[in-house]
Amino acid sequence: MHQESTKNQPRHIAIIMDGNGRWAKKHGLPRIEGHRRGAQAVRQCLEAARDHGLRYLTLYAFSVENWDRPEEEVHALMDLLDQFLKEQIHHMLKHKIRLRVIGRYHELPSNIQKRLREAEERSAEFTKFTVGLALNYGSRTEVVDAARAIAKATQAGTVDPDRLDYAQFRDFLYTGDMPDPDLVIRTSGESRLSNFLLMQSAYSEIYFSEVLWPDFDRSSFEAALEDYAQRERRYGKTSEQLQTPAS
Ligand code: IPE
Ligand code: IPE
Ligand code: MG
Repeated sequence: MHQESTKNQPRHIAIIMDGNGRWAKKHGLPRIEGHRRGAQAVRQCLEAARDHGLRYLTLYAFSVENWDRPEEEVHALMDLLDQFLKEQIHHMLKHKIRLRVIGRYHELPSNIQKRLREAEERSAEFTKFTVGLALNYGSRTEVVDAARAIAKATQAGTVDPDRLDYAQFRDFLYTGDMPDPDLVIRTSGESRLSNFLLMQSAYSEIYFSEVLWPDFDRSSFEAALEDYAQRERRYGKTSEQLQTPAS
């Protein structure tokens, strides 16, 4: 498993970008304006992550449950996503950033699927910094999709059910080729995971920020990094064991 990250510096941060609607309300603006400002905040965060030497940044942009929002909001979000991709893909390719989409791809609008697939293919060779975009993502759906794929692999004889362990199971998750997040950040003061990376965050540090996502800037990001640096990840061991090199 890809577990190693230096003691005080995360290799992979995953963010639940929440609070766009409340930001808009606070400013007397329509919800979609909050989403628009939220999309702008992504860019800042991406730059901060890269400057701090992170290898992976995964952003929760749209959950499987978000389809249940009012139709015009879903529509506006998809339009915004299309626009965002149109602008950002160019920037990402220029800066050699790899894009990885996690979620049920095939249920997204076809124009968006096309953009994403093209960006994934064109950026596949970049290895320094990967941005994961969670779109139409839900952990439970992901586990079900993995279970389906494993059942098929078992029938095909490529998986032996008696030998199946988590190391093999994880390869069937959407994130199969990515390390688990070291740190999961949620903005807007909510203290829940909302179906995000439940398997992968089994041993992640969690950081809840009061800041609404459109206001989450470089300094908010750095505050999360500083907080992470103070944590001790024990993975079930004792603190004393971790201080002994042979543990
Ligand atoms: C997060 O902001 C963006 C998405 C879920 C797409 P919200 O839209 O959930 O903002 P709040 O929670 O209503 O403030
Ligand atoms: C989680 O936020 C999903 C994303 C940030 C994309 P929500 O706003 O949908 O979560 P809940 O409904 O408050 O749990
Ligand atoms: Mg929300």
